[in-house]
This record gives sequence, C-alpha cells and structure tokens, in this order.
Amino acid sequence: MLILGIESSCDETAASVIEDCRTIRSSVISTQIEEHRKYGGVVPEIASRRHCENILGVTRKALADADTELADLDGIAVTYAPGLIGALLVGVNFAKGLALASGKPLIPVHHIAGHIATNYLSHPDLEPPYLCLVASGGHSHIIEVLSYTKFRVVGRTRDDAAGECFDKCARAMGFPYPGGVHVDKAAQSGDPKAFRLPHPAVAGNEFDLSFSGLKTNVINLLHHAEQKGEHIDRNDLSASLQATIAEILTGKTMLAAEALGYKKIALAGGVSANSGVRAAMAEACEKRGYSFYMPEKSLCGDNGAMIGCQGSYNLIAGITADESLNAVATLSMDEI
Ligand code: KG4
Ligand code: ZN
Repeated sequence: MLILGIESSCDETAASVIEDCRTIRSSVISTQIEEHRKYGGVVPEIASRRHCENILGVTRKALADADTELADLDGIAVTYAPGLIGALLVGVNFAKGLALASGKPLIPVHHIAGHIATNYLSHPDLEPPYLCLVASGGHSHIIEVLSYTKFRVVGRTRDDAAGECFDKCARAMGFPYPGGVHVDKAAQSGDPKAFRLPHPAVAGNEFDLSFSGLKTNVINLLHHAEQKGEHIDRNDLSASLQATIAEILTGKTMLAAEALGYKKIALAGGVSANSGVRAAMAEACEKRGYSFYMPEKSLCGDNGAMIGCQGSYNLIAGITADESLNAVATLSMDEI
C-alpha cells in the first residue's frame, strides 16, 4: 500500500510517500522558519502564500524520490485540522485536486494523530493501546491511544502549550524564533537547580496541564533583573526552565499512566525533540518498569511522513472524505 501524506498546518510544507503504513519511501520538508523569524513568530498570511508556492514542487519531489507516480498510490492523506486555517486550506484543496484528478481516495488526518503516528515509523513493534504525551508548539495533551484510529484525551493544557512556553521564554531571553531548540542547547551548559520556578496548580481534572504561570514567571524574572541592571545567566535559566517543563510533563503523564493502568508510554510532537523532556520521560518510565517509545529526532517536528503513516491506518479503518472536506482550525481529538 502506498500513501501520499501532505502537511501544511503551520510553517512547514511537507509531503511524503509511505509504504505499508510504516516505511518512509520519501519525505520532503520545505520550512519557512527563516522568513517568519524576523517577525518573532509565524505570520499566518505569509505561511499560506508560501504553502501555495511550494506545495506542488514539494509533492512532485516526494513522488520522484519514492520513484512513484500518482497512479501508483492507494490514497492521498492530508492534514485537515487543527492549525492555521489559511495554511490548512492550501493542503486540503491541493489534496482534493490530486484525489479528483487521480480517482484515489482522499484521507483526512488530524495533525495530532499524525504526531502520535511518528512512533510507528520509529518503532516497528509499537501497537495500541498505550498512553501518549503530545507536546508541540500549539498543543499539550495526554492521550489514550485506544486503537490506530481511536483516541481519548485525558489531559490537556488549560492555557499555553509546552512549546509556546519554551518559545516565549526563549524570546524574552533573546534567542531567535523558534526558541525551544536554543533553550535546549543553552541548557546543556547550565545548572537546572539555579532557579526555582513554579509548578502549576490546576484545579479540576488532575491530568490537565498549564504553562502560562511558568512563562509569566520567567518573563518577569528577566524584566526585573533588567530593570535593576542585574545579570541573569541564560544557560542556568534555560536549564532550570527545561527541567521544570520536563518535570511538569513527565509528572502528569506518570500520574495518568498509574491512574489508568498504562504500562506502555509514548512521546510525540515538536517538544519531543527536547533532550531534557526525552531524558525525564525515559527515566520515569524505566523507574516504573514501563516500556517507553519516542520518535527519532528527525520526525519530531511537522512532516509529511506522519500524515502518510496515520493516513494509511485511517484508510484501513475506512476513514476517507469526499470533495466536501473542509479545513478546521480547532478540532479536539475527541471529536474525530
Ligand atoms: O510539532 P511542531 O513542529 O509544530 C506544532 O504542531 O506546533 O512543534 C513546534 C514546537 C515549537 O514550539 C518548538 O520550539 C518546539 O516544538 N521544539 C522544541 C525543540 N525542538 C522543537 N522545544 C524544546 N526543545 C527542542 N529541542
Ligand atoms: Zn505539529
């Protein structure tokens, strides 16, 4: 089975050909990070325009790299939600055009389900059910993966996503966008105990997360130091921030795993590239005798392979769409 996966929900235009659910025949990613960096974040209209310009070339290259033609495909999978609406619409309409022209099934894929699927690409033995922590720039969720296509959200952030917290704090520290990776690098030479940063107290659902208090604390700390002319060691603050985010994410995931009886845990999303989060999750799982899965670093960020992989499982489950498929900016995993 050959599935083309198309991703355009944010600032990466990506396409990939996936064979038999888990083998990457090709993966092409065109990133716009350089262009958005001068604005300190993604500018939605610029993102849509770049997707428009790049999507055909990226898809052609993915097909050529896989030595495949449209006619060889069994389906065309595309991210339809959630994300920037103008950016999503480019991928959705392009995929519709391809499906219509080729007569192949059109397969809608939820972006977060795609992130979860990166673990199938990295671990041939992984099968549901398991518990997955998904942390990215726009989302932080603890999800029960009941089957390849059925999910239940057990915890979610009440405010900012973990990646957003990394990026906003990084910006306040003077690192370029997106700052998560710079915090990770700086943290390697810092002391994680140098600053005592707050852990959120979230009332109600004990598996919910919150990062806005931590973000505000770090930003205030930097502003106050600046006003008083005091120096703050960026490496120490990065290490402390990273350790705190890792503790929060790991703590809540372990709490949910214990309460729900999961012994198989996975990690996914852009923040799963973070060395502190990877190490903390691996250590917590090892301590409890849980098996732990995380994607290769190259698959943590947005890519087309994750959409092709999840699209393959969607097709097997009979999840396809007709020409009325629309892009949706906000859509919970519980609603798919
Ligand atoms: O999944 P993703 O590529 O896009 C969304 O779906 O949001 O995630 C991007 C996020 C950004 O916030 C970025 O700073 C963060 O993932 N990120 C990292 C690292 N690499 C990417 N955060 C911390 N440490 C990293 N090494
Ligand atoms: Zn993503």
